[in-house]
Amino acid sequence: MKRQNVKIGLFGYGVVGQGLHDVLNESKGFHADIKRICVKHRNKKRRLPMHYFTWDKQDILDDPEINLVVELIDDAEEAFDIVSTALSQEKNVVTANKKMVAEHLDELIRIQEKNNVSLLYEGAVCGAIPIIRNLEEYYDNELLYSLRGIFNGSTNYILSKMFNENRDYEEALHEAQKLGFAESDPWLDVSGTDANYKLSIIMEHAYGLYIRPENIFHLGITNINSQDMQFAREKGYRIKLVPYAGRVGKNELTGFVLPRFLTADKKLFTVENEYNGVVVEAAFAEKQFFYGKGAGGHPTGSAVLSDISANSFFYAYEYKKRKQNLGLSYTTDVILEVYFRYQDKKDMDLLDFDKITESYTGPEYSYRIGKIHLQELFEKREDILNKDVSVINTGFKPEKR
Ligand code: HSE
Repeated sequence: MKRQNVKIGLFGYGVVGQGLHDVLNESKGFHADIKRICVKHRNKKRRLPMHYFTWDKQDILDDPEINLVVELIDDAEEAFDIVSTALSQEKNVVTANKKMVAEHLDELIRIQEKNNVSLLYEGAVCGAIPIIRNLEEYYDNELLYSLRGIFNGSTNYILSKMFNENRDYEEALHEAQKLGFAESDPWLDVSGTDANYKLSIIMEHAYGLYIRPENIFHLGITNINSQDMQFAREKGYRIKLVPYAGRVGKNELTGFVLPRFLTADKKLFTVENEYNGVVVEAAFAEKQFFYGKGAGGHPTGSAVLSDISANSFFYAYEYKKRKQNLGLSYTTDVILEVYFRYQDKKDMDLLDFDKITESYTGPEYSYRIGKIHLQELFEKREDILNKDVSVINTGFKPEKR
């Protein structure tokens, strides 16, 4: 198999950049040189000699010897500028920037095709779990019914600590930040936005449809309180943030990110702390479960290394499902079943349920469980966020209305 020597220009030297550096150093079977590293802060103490570092992106983009740009910075718009420029200058790129990929995927695919270059981003989705490559290469001819999972390590870490150790939300979040799991703006994690970006990327590779993140309903874990935890404990459930993409009816696809109750017989029930998991339901392979670390420098660095190595063998995503043109369209016209907890009586009718199947009114809190239109959740998202209420998916399979 043909292979090229890789000379890397690295953007960013934070948690993942340093993780990649460690992983590259330890790797016995693969060698790639990092030639320059472009960073933002001039005065930070660095683990490498200063001659590696630059503050000028052109030092990498204009260097003809650098044949691979590895982009690991925080700022998604700056990242898009770097990545699109590098691809247009016929340099291949590896990135772990989910926001940048999710927000610009259509354009990034076009730029790759136009310039005959490759952009790989396994590290952007579920850390060390090789889900994108599997969707591209293993499930390329599979009819996929659904994908769901735990795509965000920080929220899973926080929920695990709150649930198992009765820890406080703020304290658990602070720990996730200290451990390098959380985004520099942790709202992206706890609001479900990060999981939403990852779901958008997964939907492209699983179904060949690019759904912009803002068109996918997402609700994070910020409204979950100790009463929800108590409710879950009494029933033997755990609460996790679970993105879902799946087929409804014949030719439609739906997707959303919601906290979800999980019973002990479910694979995702066992996924704790910063671990991620992906459950794939396929027509022929049937149910499969991927499990691994979803955040942190070394796990994400290992996914980036795998992309760098794949790039040295001239690997590029073919976007096979997009090319197969499966004739699917995206819909939010589906019915879910949710638990809705409220404190204040006047919030009782905040959500317009299609059908209420269980209702409880108590001195501490009250709840309703019932069927609801996904579009209704979209419309009430801001109200939900601003009130002392929570919405948790019971896990009932979404149905066409
Ligand atoms: N903040 C992300 C998470 C990092 O917690 O999963 C990995 O994408």
